[in-house]
Amino acid sequence: MTGVLITGASGGIGRALARLCARPGVTLFLWGRHEGRLEETAALCRARGAVAHIRALDLADGRAALAALREDDGRAPVDLLLLGAGLPDIRPPEALTEDPEVVLAMAQVNFATPVAMATEAARLMAARGRGAIAAIGSVAAFHDLPQATAYAGGKAGLARFMTALHAAMAPHGVRVTVVSPGYIDTAMSRRLNGARPFLMTPEDAAARILDALGRNAPHVVFPRVFVLLKWLDALLPRCIVHRLMRRAVVRQSPA
Ligand SMILES: NC(=O)c1ccc[n+]([C@@H]2O[C@H](COP(=O)([O-])OP(=O)(O)OC[C@H]3O[C@@H](n4cnc5c(N)ncnc54)[C@H](OP(=O)(O)O)[C@@H]3O)[C@@H](O)[C@H]2O)c1
Repeated sequence: MTGVLITGASGGIGRALARLCARPGVTLFLWGRHEGRLEETAALCRARGAVAHIRALDLADGRAALAALREDDGRAPVDLLLLGAGLPDIRPPEALTEDPEVVLAMAQVNFATPVAMATEAARLMAARGRGAIAAIGSVAAFHDLPQATAYAGGKAGLARFMTALHAAMAPHGVRVTVVSPGYIDTAMSRRLNGARPFLMTPEDAAARILDALGRNAPHVVFPRVFVLLKWLDALLPRCIVHRLMRRAVVRQSPA
């Protein structure tokens, strides 16, 4: 029995990943906060012949997440860990800074808990000599986003952690990948008021994540146009980039 643990499985990309992984012989551990939506994902997976367990857990509690990971691994060895959960926030133009309480929760959910889970999973997988771990970062990590400092910073940290873990785990048979998507058509990006250029479906994103893991790619960016934007940003002087970035008016609804 192969165990697959997915965080953020109650919607969007996480649900699309669960559907792609669901088949007879697979035990899925589906994590999120919203039990009703997790049950919907589980029903889709069971219809495809997989065993599916749900777990409602707030990743702001990193210790509870580590204990739950060990418990699930004891039920069926987790050979595939997909860290999809993410918490976005955008500072309203009238606010001076982001809310420090929200920033703390985002640091936990987008960085601290996933890196702790990836570390524990890597330890368990390396002892078995097999396994794969993917985390969903964001192209936001490539830019100094004045309206989303915590989101950009957390995703940048996550990406660096994952490529470092890739380097550490390569000799031990554990594949490690971070993906940095652009706009994906999920509840998260639908909250934005502006345009969503080069929009992709969650199904397409999920397929690219599993493909990247299959190739053991350390870091994959999609759509590729965001690689160009990353290099353009890096080439320009910071003062110009920052002035342009400050001009952007981005809102999320609800705020
Ligand atoms: N959509 C995009 O344009 C885009 C672009 C780049 C990167 N991403 C990244 O892709 C990942 C998946 O996002 P998505 O687009 O699929 O958005 P989504 O549909 O809103 O899904 C977000 C998932 O994260 C879970 N989550 C949020 N806060 C949590 C918490 N405190 N504890 C546990 N689970 C929590 C949610 O669970 P509940 O709903 O049950 O609370 C949900 O399952 C995220 O890491 C996001 O940052 C998205």
